[in-house]
Amino acid sequence: MNHSPLQNLRDRALLKTAAYVNGAWLEQTQRFSVTDPATGLELARVADTDRGHAQQAIAAAGAAWPAWRDKTAKERATLLMRWNALMLEHADDLALLMTAEQGKPLAEARGEVAYAASFLEWFAEEGRRVCGETIATHDPGKRLLVLRQAVGVCAAITPWNFPLAMITRKVAPALAAGCPVIVKPAEQTPLCALALAELAARAGLPPGIFNVLSADGANSIAVGRALCESPVVRHLSFTGSTEVGRILIRQCAPTIKKLSLELGGNAPFIVFDDADIESAVEGALISKFRNAGQTCVCVNRFYVQEGVYETFVTRLAERVRELRLGNGFDPGVQVASLIDDPAVEKVRQHVSDAQSKGGRVLAGGRLRSGRLFEPTVIADASADMLCAHEETFGPVAPIFRFQSEAEAIALANATEFGLASYLYSRDIGRIFRVAEALESGMVGINTGHISTAEAPFGGVKQSGLGREGSRHGIEDYLELKYLCLGGI
Ligand code: SIN
Repeated sequence: MNHSPLQNLRDRALLKTAAYVNGAWLEQTQRFSVTDPATGLELARVADTDRGHAQQAIAAAGAAWPAWRDKTAKERATLLMRWNALMLEHADDLALLMTAEQGKPLAEARGEVAYAASFLEWFAEEGRRVCGETIATHDPGKRLLVLRQAVGVCAAITPWNFPLAMITRKVAPALAAGCPVIVKPAEQTPLCALALAELAARAGLPPGIFNVLSADGANSIAVGRALCESPVVRHLSFTGSTEVGRILIRQCAPTIKKLSLELGGNAPFIVFDDADIESAVEGALISKFRNAGQTCVCVNRFYVQEGVYETFVTRLAERVRELRLGNGFDPGVQVASLIDDPAVEKVRQHVSDAQSKGGRVLAGGRLRSGRLFEPTVIADASADMLCAHEETFGPVAPIFRFQSEAEAIALANATEFGLASYLYSRDIGRIFRVAEALESGMVGINTGHISTAEAPFGGVKQSGLGREGSRHGIEDYLELKYLCLGGI
């Protein structure tokens, strides 16, 4: 008999399997199975909501909106701060749920809980700094003013790779701005979202303000469509693939919604001859192998200048061979299970394609067992390989060679994506030239870790629209209203 990791929850009431709508746990007979990606074992059977439940949630959020909007920013901030404190108090249990349903190493899951809670804290504070404007008038008999007002009911469709942080990064600015939210979490990871709803209830968020609709397969698509098509929902935020982003844009077109989209990436990581190689190798490990390569900002392509190429690939391969691969619950594990079999298949395909086109596998290259793919380094990568164009979303580091700065910039920008880029150099002039020329929303310079609540996260080109986090992250949830006051 296999022991479920969920038996180790300290607060068993955080394991919720019903959807959360209008401050209540919905009685729902239809259920789907949520499994541990590392073992394939069932963790729980969770409510499979449908279009009707989505409409119920939209109506509840619409009804709850006026009272929430009319609270002061400080009143809303107090509730968000309580929610933040509860997340931190229950960090161990939330991390346990995350590792169980998503697979990432427990230490990373703990880091994500803190990262997720930080958005509640940040936007509780930012909500109190929303300011309008007065404008120098064009007419002595008139005064011109601008209000910033909550956009209305918001929907968030969130991914499995960050089961908590991608929810709070969207929900916190919406709530702080005065908007209620309906979340449809990824079908692979609803348990974290539902635990978050339990903590929202404990924090005292009023009914209808934060709703969670778990759903699987066909119902997941139907719920997403209902949120997109509703005229009551005024804003949709989505993190996921560019392909699904395009579908959601089409579904939102008839009701002209505001959209925040954080879509696919194909991040380049450029190492110049003048870089500190040890530091570049450490940055590469963080930015490539975090969450087993399953983040939108993970490096997909390494470009290393001719003069340091062999040194970099040799040293990176040495360090990668030291990474501990295993079950996310095992102490010291740094790289854990991929999310599902299609993910494993994609990684396998990218590795064999690279090998067939002359790539030298210097570390890893194989599926060890289950969904544990060895962290992999491939030297002599070339532009005709699949990994040069498609996001691998797995623990594979293909390393390409380049000669000049101009060539590196051209290679890095040769993609329809533009989320994150990384560069390593100690030449300050070069740092500015290259950072300014890179077509991406974010650039890590001499670091492999860029994510934080204080900074604007988002992409250009086909990597998305809008920014999350930072003081800009609340803007998507606010509308400007111009007041023209005559008769002065
Ligand atoms: C993502 O993969 O979409 C988010 C990664 C991050 O916030 O660091």
